[in-house]
Amino acid sequence: MLEDTSFAIRPDQGMNEEKNPFQDIGNAKNISKTENEIKISADNGELAVVFYRDDIVRFVFQPLKEVMLDSSPAIVLAPEKSEVKLNDEKNAFRLEAPKLTVLITKTPIRITVMDSQRRVLFEQKEKGIGFKPTGEVICHSTRNHEDHYYGLGEKTGYLDKRGEKLTMWNTDVYAPHNPETDALYQSHPYFMVLRNGAAQGIHFDNTFKSTFDFRSEADVYSFGAEGGIVDFYVMAGPGPKDVLEQYTALTGRAPIPPKWAIGYHQSRYSYESEQEVRELAAIFKEKEIPLDAVYLDIHYMNGYRVFTFDRERFPEPENLVRDLKEQGIRIIPIVDPGVKEDPEYPIYQEGIYGDHFCKYIEGSLYFGDVWPGNSAFPDFTSSKAREWWGEKHKYYTDLGIEGIWNDMNEPSVFNESKTMDLKVMHNNDGNPKTHRELHNVYGLLMGEATYDGMKKQLGGKRPFLLTRSGFSGVQRYAAVWTGDNRSFWEHLQLSIPMVMNLGLSGIPFAGPDVGGFAHDSNGELLARWSQVGAFTPYFRNHSAIGTLRQEPWSFGEKYEQIIKKYIELRYQWLPQLYTLFAEAWQKGLPVMRPLMLEYPEDENTFNLSDQFMLGNNIIVAPIMQPSAEHRAVYLPEGEWVDYWTDEVYAGGNHHLVHAPLEVLPIFIKKGTVIALGEVRHSTAAADSKRILHYYYQPDSTSTFKMYDDDGTTFAYESGEYCLKTFEIKAMNREISLKISTEGRYEPEWQEVDIILHDAPELTTVDVNGEMKNVEKNTEKTCTIHL
Ligand code: NOJ
Repeated sequence: MLEDTSFAIRPDQGMNEEKNPFQDIGNAKNISKTENEIKISADNGELAVVFYRDDIVRFVFQPLKEVMLDSSPAIVLAPEKSEVKLNDEKNAFRLEAPKLTVLITKTPIRITVMDSQRRVLFEQKEKGIGFKPTGEVICHSTRNHEDHYYGLGEKTGYLDKRGEKLTMWNTDVYAPHNPETDALYQSHPYFMVLRNGAAQGIHFDNTFKSTFDFRSEADVYSFGAEGGIVDFYVMAGPGPKDVLEQYTALTGRAPIPPKWAIGYHQSRYSYESEQEVRELAAIFKEKEIPLDAVYLDIHYMNGYRVFTFDRERFPEPENLVRDLKEQGIRIIPIVDPGVKEDPEYPIYQEGIYGDHFCKYIEGSLYFGDVWPGNSAFPDFTSSKAREWWGEKHKYYTDLGIEGIWNDMNEPSVFNESKTMDLKVMHNNDGNPKTHRELHNVYGLLMGEATYDGMKKQLGGKRPFLLTRSGFSGVQRYAAVWTGDNRSFWEHLQLSIPMVMNLGLSGIPFAGPDVGGFAHDSNGELLARWSQVGAFTPYFRNHSAIGTLRQEPWSFGEKYEQIIKKYIELRYQWLPQLYTLFAEAWQKGLPVMRPLMLEYPEDENTFNLSDQFMLGNNIIVAPIMQPSAEHRAVYLPEGEWVDYWTDEVYAGGNHHLVHAPLEVLPIFIKKGTVIALGEVRHSTAAADSKRILHYYYQPDSTSTFKMYDDDGTTFAYESGEYCLKTFEIKAMNREISLKISTEGRYEPEWQEVDIILHDAPELTTVDVNGEMKNVEKNTEKTCTIHL
């Protein structure tokens, strides 16, 4: 059934604001209620209010028609039963749920949402919801001068988006990481507002090109789109972490990645032959630089035909994949959506005969020019096409491949508009819609097809998927890399707030091309960038064709040694990172965090864009300028210990720290623990030990959790994991430790050392009631062997 999409007049015909103003929703006429769903008919359409959970409420306004409660593919949450009371007051309807109150005035309709403490989460005064006959929709809320805005996915600029106006339209812009570039490869029509230490979230569930305006008006912000309806969710917080829990309940959480996916990855556009890949792996081995994956960019294919290998360059891919896997290295091939128009190419034939490609309404195929030349594009909005595409990945899994790299999936097309003709009609499982409406979800749905297909073929093993394009919810399927940056210091700087905001948008597994993709890198930049990369959730060095090589050894011995040291450090820190990935799966919290997430009341953190946290107790403050050896670091309340020197710094202060080229400044909060392992050449190597570092804080108790599982299967979902909880009491110059274990997984490592930093002179420590000897190491550290 074709839905009446009511955007027959294209927006470019009606953009003149004066001649074509927004019409208001109007006054309320009638109200009806069923359990947690309220419908109000208005002069100019219908408004629905649906309580999804006690702390999530949805508003849907359909101009000029009865409201429909469809959702975009971002949404995975179904409304849960919640108690809602409706009071029909003189001037307003009051809807009371356990944690939320919604007040809707009648003439005209204006919405206010409050939490149980009467904190205002969303409020409309003069301006409410509007629409135009040309199809655009808009929604306003008052804004406060205290407000700070985060999330919004993959955006350039600083952390706080206050004062910005941002567009969601998935776009392949070459080398685009500049402050003036707005629309990038991903669209996340979601943001978090932080006001006086408390937070709330808004997700605008509209797939059209949309705009978020925190700039144009002093007291009002707005979000709107070129078409569709006003459909948004208010998430109550009250903390920024609560908002993330709520948002990822709504749009889904990232599965725990296979362990090998969080090791070090090496890429290049392109490693062009089997021999080149084997030589590359041999150099890593000879130099003893850890490595878990090598990427095959577009040159591995036969004439850029996806699901093929060029047998001259790669005569025996199966052997290559097998031999490298024996060394602990996975091969990850690129898979773009464009399928070469070639009647002798089986994938093209199947796509045609199976009716899987995108078409115009009249029935003719859409073709676009991409790497293989004239190409057809699978219609990922159709579940039949997704299934077909997913099954095709058997080609790769049969070769032993476990990871796929999706690129060009905005979709990117080499033409003026950079994408598919907006008039193309997507099948959308019997609810056809134009590409103009579904463009932003094309990459997300390709991700779903690929991930689900790989998962099926891998028979219980976790697939790894990397994607360039995406929409809210993409975290369910893929890690995100931030596309074509350049080997500029500015792009290193910019990658930090970008990855932090991706994290605040529910995507814990993200990172930029380390070293920079376009332009030539250099030793100093690569060394500094690799230091940051070692602590970003996704760690891949990738560079463009025609640029200087940028493998760890490319700029000489001095830089190689530093880069190697930090790749090794990454492997030592994997247990800590893995615990954080497990937390992301459980609670939706990011691995790499802005300081505002942990210290939402500290205004020094609100726009801190050049340092970040790992979890809740580690601060990384990289040097991101050439020839610099010093930088200012902000450390919030508490005391912080330099990871390298054990020097203690007072929190609530800025410090000037010295960091020559081989030093990445890392600080651990006193009274907390980090869990490390040993340097390994790959995650496939034996993992026999855990080394916990406890940063002693007198008269304190602290709890720390360390997570582990088999790292390869989904057994963790049914209890096959090992979660160790360490409760540490440091009282009267004595330390006692209580260790408990949850879950059925028996980890490979049996040996655990605990290193005490800055602890008083002790000879024994109480561990679960048993006195354990303490071995002195240095002035500042001693060890307990468990
Ligand atoms: C564009 C991608 O962003 C880049 O990473 C890749 O190397 C090229 N396409 C070639 O496939």
